[in-house]
Amino acid sequence: MLMEKLEARHLPQMMILDNGHAVRTPDDWRIRRRELIDLLSREEYGYTPEAPERVTGAIRPAPDQEMNRAFAGKAVQQTIDLSFDTPGGVFSFPVILCVPRSAAKAPVFVYIAFRRDFPDRYLPVEEILDHGFAIAAFCYEDVTADSACMNRLAALYPRDEKTGWGKIGMWAFAASRVLDYLETRDDIDLTRACVSGHSRLGKTALWCGAQDERFSMVISNDSGCCGAALSRGKIGETVARINAVFPYWFCGNHLKWSGREGEMPFDQHMLLALTAPRRLYVCSAEEDSWADPESEFLSCLAASEAWQLHRLAGLVTPDALPVPGSPLLDGGVCYHLRTGAHFHSRTDWGYHMACRERFRI
Ligand code: GCU
Repeated sequence: MLMEKLEARHLPQMMILDNGHAVRTPDDWRIRRRELIDLLSREEYGYTPEAPERVTGAIRPAPDQEMNRAFAGKAVQQTIDLSFDTPGGVFSFPVILCVPRSAAKAPVFVYIAFRRDFPDRYLPVEEILDHGFAIAAFCYEDVTADSACMNRLAALYPRDEKTGWGKIGMWAFAASRVLDYLETRDDIDLTRACVSGHSRLGKTALWCGAQDERFSMVISNDSGCCGAALSRGKIGETVARINAVFPYWFCGNHLKWSGREGEMPFDQHMLLALTAPRRLYVCSAEEDSWADPESEFLSCLAASEAWQLHRLAGLVTPDALPVPGSPLLDGGVCYHLRTGAHFHSRTDWGYHMACRERFRI
């Protein structure tokens, strides 16, 4: 039943190299991976510039109860201004880092946040700390505005009109710079770094994790159109609609695909597959028809080939559409459908953490 649903989407081939040969081995996948990143860069998100040589962090002074005695003394919390060189000069943006005292080195969530609030309604900080995870959160608009205005980071790089990075690419790049900084610390377990975001920032987390293999896990929450969901056959938001309202999230070339999903040389299962063989976790909400849970789920199924190639299970699912309350946590691709609306809820976080604890990732 699921395979028939997937076939009806008529997806472009993911496991054929540009030279026409089938992708059969993990070595072939390394080549295909580069091709897919190139394809998604050229046609969807734009090309990401080179990473800077180094990222430095300056910890802002704060009273002890905010810094060393945060959350009843469970954690060290710091606001840190990260800085790095760009072609247009030094760029800085603030990150809040909160590390539980419970472990010598804590696994971390790099969280791309809508707001500067900490905790935030999407980010239950104390619960996350109680599970032993650190959080490094930044507000996406401190990187560049969520509008056509090419300010802050956007103003510092030359940008090709057709293939230059859109805002999703810039926010994703910033999440990788947070990891660069975390590499300079000794209280973070770098083998267990996860990038996560909700909705447009779930799209961002996927594109970040696709490119940056230092993240051992990638979480997309309700990311929908041009995120986890297949564009072909999608209900709710479409490529035409997202391009009309948010053209600046993408590269210029993406505009030409409005209303032409069937002709696109890519679809979103390719984005998901770029996390392989690391752990991917896609979350949907039952009432979120704008994002389209079924298209997110089928995308996970289509992406699974990339895990299978590595002799790993991809999405492990019965041959039926998912139901709320039955998260699928057995494969390299994890998925859950939650009851309720578009939101990054404590229910979602509970499953994310259960998955990380189970696989020690
Ligand atoms: C809009 C947009 C979505 C996006 C969402 C969000 O609804 O159409 O693509 O995911 O905003 O970021 O909350």
